[in-house]
Amino acid sequence: MSDALIAQAVTILQAGGLVAVPTETVYGLAGDARSLGAVKKIFRVKQRPADHPLIVHIAHPEQLTEWARDIPEMAWQLVNTFWPGPLTVVLKKAADVSPLITGGQETIALRIPRHPIALALLEAFGGALAAPSANRFGHISPTTADDVREELAAAVDLILDGGPCEVGVESTIVDFSTGTPSILRPGAVTAAQIESVLGIHLASRKNTAPRVSGSHAVHYAPTTKTTLVTPDQLEAFLLELTVTDVPVALLVRRKKFLYWPGIHWETMPTDAKAYAQALYHRLRELDKMEFKQIIIESVPDDPEWDAVRDRLQRACGKNSLSHTVGEGQG
Ligand code: TXA
Ligand code: MG
Repeated sequence: MSDALIAQAVTILQAGGLVAVPTETVYGLAGDARSLGAVKKIFRVKQRPADHPLIVHIAHPEQLTEWARDIPEMAWQLVNTFWPGPLTVVLKKAADVSPLITGGQETIALRIPRHPIALALLEAFGGALAAPSANRFGHISPTTADDVREELAAAVDLILDGGPCEVGVESTIVDFSTGTPSILRPGAVTAAQIESVLGIHLASRKNTAPRVSGSHAVHYAPTTKTTLVTPDQLEAFLLELTVTDVPVALLVRRKKFLYWPGIHWETMPTDAKAYAQALYHRLRELDKMEFKQIIIESVPDDPEWDAVRDRLQRACGKNSLSHTVGEGQG
């Protein structure tokens, strides 16, 4: 990335404009976190409800104290280990932080991303950047610059192209605002890694379900009807499809049957990290192909799949056979 482009981005941010910026997780829609105009613009462009708080991105751990108060020792341990990287911490907000950013809550979410372009921009800008994922509310987060163009196009002043995101799903969020730390959103930094640094057991280790209200349960969703099916249920599910149900896109880790009429097989990586990296872009591509539905084979129950499992559950919302035929299979 040229210095000139970064300088142009800084000029836009200083004027209250918005810049799409690559991070290692997903692309963010960044604006000056101290500018109420820029923050309002982010909500407008994303069509995001006002009570849905934004993550503030900083360049140095010392900046934490400008945004948060009563920072527990454990939070410092965690950020000193994983920053820059795919970890967000939720802390009690400093008194002068606008409730616009925090969705009216008394807490604030902060992170240092590790993508070189995001870091270069944060350094050159000098302040903090409020940056939610650069998609319209409820859509799949963008993991390439083209995905951002598709989502927001004219609404952003500049899109910095950093290539495909390395992680592919949003950062792990750890809440330190209550007595015991807990994971609000699983991501590339795993519960086991966090527990090993902190030397404690996290409350939500087994239950990684999103702590969001019902209306937000379907999030990161394709517009095509999307259903989660356990590997055990897959064959029975396919047998029940009628001519009006197809064509169907089927997202699996291994192709199971040689031929099945009306089914488009989409083979995903068998490694959890590679799967996460590919997931959003693949769903986005399938969403454009006008299938009647997208069927996703559920992933293993192992902790290394926590982030992917969470996003698949959110993408499918209530359309989950794994819920009706019993939890925990596959
Ligand atoms: O990887 C990421 O975190 C990406 C990149 C761009 O950094 N950002 C991202 O932001 O995913 P966004 O706005 O799409 O997700 C923000 C989520 C909210 O939905 C909420 O769950 C949580 O972060 N959050 C933000 N502020 C919070 C707060 N004060 N308390 C609790 N949760 C908060
Ligand atoms: Mg988002």
